[in-house]
Amino acid sequence: MIYLDHNATTPIDPAVAEKMAGFLREQFGNPSSLYPIGRRVKELMNEARERVAAALGADRGEIYFTGSGTEADNFAIFGTFDASPDRNEFVTSAIEHPAVIESARALERRGIKVTYLPVDEYGTISLDHLRSALTPRTALVSIMHANNEIGTIQPLAEIVRIAREAGVPVHTDAVQSFGKIDVDAHKLGVDLLTVSAHKIYGPKGVGALYVRRGEAIAPFVHGGHQERGLRAGTENTAGIIGFGEAVRVMADKGRKERARIEKLAEALKRGIEEKIPGARFNGHPEHRVKSTLNFAFPGLEAEAILLALATKEIYVSTGSACSEESEEVSHVLRAIGLRPEIARSCIRMSLGRSNSEEDVAVVLRELPEIIARLRSITNFHPEG
Ligand SMILES: Cc1ncc(COP(=O)(O)O)c(C=O)c1O
Repeated sequence: MIYLDHNATTPIDPAVAEKMAGFLREQFGNPSSLYPIGRRVKELMNEARERVAAALGADRGEIYFTGSGTEADNFAIFGTFDASPDRNEFVTSAIEHPAVIESARALERRGIKVTYLPVDEYGTISLDHLRSALTPRTALVSIMHANNEIGTIQPLAEIVRIAREAGVPVHTDAVQSFGKIDVDAHKLGVDLLTVSAHKIYGPKGVGALYVRRGEAIAPFVHGGHQERGLRAGTENTAGIIGFGEAVRVMADKGRKERARIEKLAEALKRGIEEKIPGARFNGHPEHRVKSTLNFAFPGLEAEAILLALATKEIYVSTGSACSEESEEVSHVLRAIGLRPEIARSCIRMSLGRSNSEEDVAVVLRELPEIIARLRSITNFHPEG
């Protein structure tokens, strides 16, 4: 199998699986219990918290574990609005993950005014638009770090500078940048930042929200005192231990592995551009996560390409996994100005640790053949 959908999820790292299995066999204590078996679990959780914090350039006390990246996004947004009842405006972008877009829609139903900043053809927001959207009533700006469908990286440092001048805190969804480019919460200057374990070879169902020390945020899940009273509920201890281990492995493998994956992705991109006439690349030419490749194959339906590749055990995506089951055209591809029929011809290939040079060679052999065959069926000729 050739797995090219690492932005949807990643295979769990063997060291993570091993660590979680050992933990599940040996530790069952409730981290809130005061006797040794509970305290031991608490210690292990704190080690994981320390690791996630260090990877994000943050302090341990600034990390709150959640049940997913989606939950961390919801926590950041609703927690901020609940903590600032005198502000009733929200600024986000048109290309956010549904975890943010749907939270924005829920805010609108509560009477909050939401601005969805447009993006240019490469998927970048305009700083001028941001500047003019901010008012003294803006409670929060939420702009993703890297986009899950096209990989475009937003100018976060500038976004933070502009928002700070206006006295508005900034949240960023860093689920797709964490592990692929440097993500340092303190250097970026953001107030809130979301990450998720299953995108970095960790378990599903665990995420974290970085909350800058001193930032006002209200409890998101009400109940016990877990996560310092902000996210109640007995913790997903094994998931959190696995998250910590995934971050350790990531730090160990370091930039060398990242560079290897980027090189493979660049070779695949070049190969597609050379071998498939009419293939159109989507995303920023420079400011993007290099392992994400999104291509339009005008005249074809992405599903047909995806299914043909799947028969060769090559797995790609038609965009975001979350919209996979709906007929709707991707809101991201629409926002960068693609016509619906072009947007429906796009496939995303996201590379990761499981990929090799051999994988790239196989895809560069199979994909051009599949495209040529589908084009001959539909009688589509890109040049004419
Ligand atoms: C940008 C982005 N944000 C949030 C999420 C949601 O994370 P989770 O699957 O942990 O809920 C994803 C996952 O696809 C994502 O790509």
